[in-house]
Amino acid sequence: MKGIVLAGGLGSRLYPLTKITNKHLLPIYKKPMIYYPIQMLVDAGIRDIMIVTGGRNAGDFLRLIGNGKEFGISGIHYTYQEGEGGIAEALGLTEEFAEGRKVVVVLGDNLLQKGIRAGVEHFRKQKAGARIFLKEVEHPWEYGIAEIRGKRIKRIIEKPKRPPSNLAVIGVYMFPPDVFQIVRRLKPSARGELEITDVNNAYVRRGRMEYEIVDGWWMDAGENHEALLRANVVVGREEGALD
Ligand code: G1P
Repeated sequence: MKGIVLAGGLGSRLYPLTKITNKHLLPIYKKPMIYYPIQMLVDAGIRDIMIVTGGRNAGDFLRLIGNGKEFGISGIHYTYQEGEGGIAEALGLTEEFAEGRKVVVVLGDNLLQKGIRAGVEHFRKQKAGARIFLKEVEHPWEYGIAEIRGKRIKRIIEKPKRPPSNLAVIGVYMFPPDVFQIVRRLKPSARGELEITDVNNAYVRRGRMEYEIVDGWWMDAGENHEALLRANVVVGREEGALD
């Protein structure tokens, strides 16, 4: 299994913090944000990792993470996304790196209290299809939201005006090797991006999407300034700060 951390984008929702650096390099308590998803993959037993970045500060990732020694892995791969083509486009850039294996894709600003070890184990044993994590949220219109029928996902709607549930699709996606064929067939959405939600819906339509509910907290630390602040406080408190 291969790990992919997506750390591109302009981070415009966090302006002016992101005027001179990439969102995923901003601090969460004692570490830059991107340390958390990398560590989460390593803790789940994934040691072959590629970072997809973009924008003007891509070189800073190499300076910060280098060969991955700090995470106890022997090498780390990098690639570069030009422009703002979306999460699915960024994923498409990792096809050669994936070498026909299953992939675990993590958005570089997603933090989970209990990591993804259990979910990755379930995916290792899963015979076919993809796997996602869902978490109840208070503002469902800000995420990809799953409409559930019985035990199955009926469809996923990206940032719905009238959410069919409050179950958000979090930014950790587990895909089989055929995901790259799906990405190649995608058409840009109204906002001009290749959407990860369209990739997920391709598996939903085939009846090949499994899910599990996240245990413990989940945070999209890069969503806005308040989310970034909250992530710092929550992670800091877990590590004994502010007592
Ligand atoms: C992205 C996805 C969305 C998902 C969210 C989780 O949204 O498009 O489906 O729920 O990440 O963090 P973004 O935060 O890029 O707007």
